[in-house]
Amino acid sequence: MTRGKFIVFEGIDGSGKTTQMELLARVLEARGMPVLRTREPGGTRVGDRLRGLLLDPDYRDLTPRTEAFLYAADRAQHVTEKILPALHRGETVLCDRFLYSTLAYQGWGRGVDIVFLTRLNQLATGGLAPDRVILLDLEVEDGLRRALKNRPPDRLEGEKAAFFRRVRQGYLEQASRWPEIFRVVRADAPEQEVHRRVLTALGME
Ligand SMILES: Nc1ncnc2c1ncn2[C@@H]1O[C@H](COP(=O)(O)OP(=O)(O)OP(=O)(O)O)[C@@H](O)[C@H]1O
Ligand SMILES: [Mg+2]
Repeated sequence: MTRGKFIVFEGIDGSGKTTQMELLARVLEARGMPVLRTREPGGTRVGDRLRGLLLDPDYRDLTPRTEAFLYAADRAQHVTEKILPALHRGETVLCDRFLYSTLAYQGWGRGVDIVFLTRLNQLATGGLAPDRVILLDLEVEDGLRRALKNRPPDRLEGEKAAFFRRVRQGYLEQASRWPEIFRVVRADAPEQEVHRRVLTALGME
């Protein structure tokens, strides 16, 4: 039995996950609740080695499936080593991205089989699901602009927009598939306004 709440932030690049997670962490801490902030890839010792392999240009021959297994291995270590112990200690766990990123980016974005990814990730997490997923939903162009600090996208980045549109669609489809845990929060407003929307979505205002 776990005791703490497990809250995940998802959304395309630049949608404000890191910003909003920190704003929520401060509110929880101000209310005297212990918080674990974490992110994926999970920052465990094992995970850091896996990440090295995933990012190493010498290993460009990784197949998309192998890549999915390595991310899943990182996630398994992250769940066991960090998330579950914190939940058992009664901490609220805030996680910047979780398996929904894999499904959106690798599944919808890159075309890896969604059923394969779902089964793989169920095994990796041992079935642990968050209490809430806050999906920060934003137009792809707005996300890119934020991520690029208001510089217009160059040609390559513009090509990425098509990819991110599929990713966004993937997130929205997941939200309608799992309405009991997902809350879609429109992220097209100033930080403090989005923060208020997040608190409302969590029933915490
Ligand atoms: N509501 C907002 N309005 C305008 N700019 C914002 C807003 N929220 C965050 N930003 C800015 O947009 C940029 C991206 O925000 P942030 O890093 O929180 O997004 P992210 O979803 O974590 O992105 P990534 O997926 O790249 O980690 C940052 O420069 C941040 O200061
Ligand atoms: Mg971030």
